[in-house]
Amino acid sequence: MTKEEMIKEIERLKKEKNAIILAHYYQNGEIQDIADYLGDSYNLSVIAKNSDAKIIVFCGVLFMGETAKILSPEKKVLMPHKYLPCYMANLINAKALKKYKEENPDRVIISYVNTYADVKALSDCTVTSSNALKILEHYKDKKILYCPDKNLGNYASKEYGYDIDLWDGCCQIHDRLTVDDVKKAKSEHPNALFCVHPEAPYELTQMADYAGSTKGIIEYCTKSDKDEFIIGTEMGILHELEKRNPNKKFYLLSKGLLCKSMKLISLEDVYKCLLNEEYEVTIDKDTMDKARVALDKMLELSK
Ligand code: 13P
Ligand code: SF4
Repeated sequence: MTKEEMIKEIERLKKEKNAIILAHYYQNGEIQDIADYLGDSYNLSVIAKNSDAKIIVFCGVLFMGETAKILSPEKKVLMPHKYLPCYMANLINAKALKKYKEENPDRVIISYVNTYADVKALSDCTVTSSNALKILEHYKDKKILYCPDKNLGNYASKEYGYDIDLWDGCCQIHDRLTVDDVKKAKSEHPNALFCVHPEAPYELTQMADYAGSTKGIIEYCTKSDKDEFIIGTEMGILHELEKRNPNKKFYLLSKGLLCKSMKLISLEDVYKCLLNEEYEVTIDKDTMDKARVALDKMLELSK
């Protein structure tokens, strides 16, 4: 089958099965191009919840597919690969979080959406990079555990001085970025504005013209009247940035900004996923129900 034929088949199967394709901005360009909805982890979860499709094909990492399933348990949520890990989500597990809760019963547990369902099930509320500051503000008078991203947690605690205990986790891809990377990029592109994802170390957010989610970065660059930007997040975002802003220039802060897990999905995988209706996301009902409480709390507080 040629690429064009495969895209036609994907379209046909979508209609026949009442399916939609959601893709994160870190996906390969050809996957972003066939998606019905493209977004950051927050707005993809809202789209999944509100959609009336019967099948959701989620092109992203496993925690994203799980989030869609938890919010829409009546839908069939499929992922084109059986297991696409997020390295950060793998740095916390339910056993360790349970132990922490026993030792710190007075702390509210706020977990990043980059966690698996069993960790969400032990949390009071989840957050994403696009609503973390707003949600943490709601808990400002409480003692908080923010897990597992120490960088985003550190950003919020330093910005506002909240009492936040940090889990020792991070996204290895963003955490590797350094102040020297920024200085070098700024000297090479003196007129460029600098945008960074808050999963990067705190010092970088302080050097940035804008720090926020993938969707936030795209909107900031698109609205700006400047035409050069240094981008401190995963390289997949360049596809949408360049598509929306053909006359602007985007420079990736570091060549290492590649999330391998996000790049494993191909057009053929999406086609087979729709054709064979695999791999279905399944989570036991009890875990799903508990995790939904934390996700619903996030949706309520983000309004
Ligand atoms: P966004 O919420 O900005 O989409 O980020 C998700 C993510 O995994 C960043 O590494
Ligand atoms: Fe997880 Fe980092 Fe990949 Fe985002 S970029 S999905 S945080 S490993």
